[in-house]
Amino acid sequence: MLKQLDEIQEQALAALEGVPDLSELDAWRIRYLGKKSALNQILRDVGRLPREERPAVGRRGNEVKLALEAAYQARKQTLEQGELAALLEKDRIDVTLPGRPVPLGRIHITTKTLRQIYAIFAQMGFQVYTARDVELDLYNFELLNMPPGHPARDMWDTFYTTREGVLLRTHTSPGQIRAMRDYCPEPIRVILPGKCYRYEQVTARSEFMFYQVEGLAVGKRITMTDLKGVMAEFVRQMFGADRQMRFRASYFPFTEPSVEVDVDCIICQGAGCRVCKHTGWLEIAGAGMVHPLVLQNGGYDPTIYSGFAFGMGPERIAMLKYGIDDIRYFYSNDLRFLEQF
Ligand code: PHE
Repeated sequence: MLKQLDEIQEQALAALEGVPDLSELDAWRIRYLGKKSALNQILRDVGRLPREERPAVGRRGNEVKLALEAAYQARKQTLEQGELAALLEKDRIDVTLPGRPVPLGRIHITTKTLRQIYAIFAQMGFQVYTARDVELDLYNFELLNMPPGHPARDMWDTFYTTREGVLLRTHTSPGQIRAMRDYCPEPIRVILPGKCYRYEQVTARSEFMFYQVEGLAVGKRITMTDLKGVMAEFVRQMFGADRQMRFRASYFPFTEPSVEVDVDCIICQGAGCRVCKHTGWLEIAGAGMVHPLVLQNGGYDPTIYSGFAFGMGPERIAMLKYGIDDIRYFYSNDLRFLEQF
């Protein structure tokens, strides 16, 4: 019996050496120290042994049990430390690794340009006035001196809706009438920014949706000199003091006289190049003195009041300023383009 106990101890300790992890250790414990283990069986049956053998077997049995329990605890501690170390190693954070870049949103080039425009005109006393995108034919054309069938309507390819007389505004000029009817008989100095829509072939130079910023000043004794001064100041602040500006005679039904505002080509400094089509000039706005009929439609007496108006395209201005050669970049959401601004 004593020999059997020695064997159990030897075997158990040898097996314990080879236990690789905590779950195997538990199996070991059940096998060698559990209720059904050989050791336990011997200890339980001590009472059935011949009286003279009992003390020796009992003592030796308890020694073996204590030895195995001690060995078990020691092994358990080693394994636990090992697993903890492995876990720590696995989850280690390398604080010297460079962080992953978090992509930042930024202000769209159009918004940026619009804000610059607002700031420049704010300095000259122009307030922002917002008019609607979905307009009536009445405001987009008729009250701007283009009755139905007027040939000048061809200047704007229009998106009509299924509702008679309702369309998407082709320019911000209908806002002139809305502002005048709102302010009349007070003097006016406003800019009207917003989206415009045209039923057009999309090309490098024209989109079907784009922005305009309309300007309108109405009051007593407003002259073309005021228009020219305001435009010159705008060009100076937007493009810098070195730029030349000129007024070129043009035609719009709602202004008389009408002009187009040009700046000398930023690319070739006026020498003539592909961008300015070898004219040396780039157009940035249409403008003119508000037509007497339009003043009247806004509620102002044209014998007392006069005014000027202009309409510019912020995308065009951005294109000239930053040398962008295709308007389609603005709304195609290509991050490689958008991230440049
Ligand atoms: N509305 C005109 C256009 O879209 C521009 C313009 C505005 C011209 C105001 C004169 C006065 O082309």
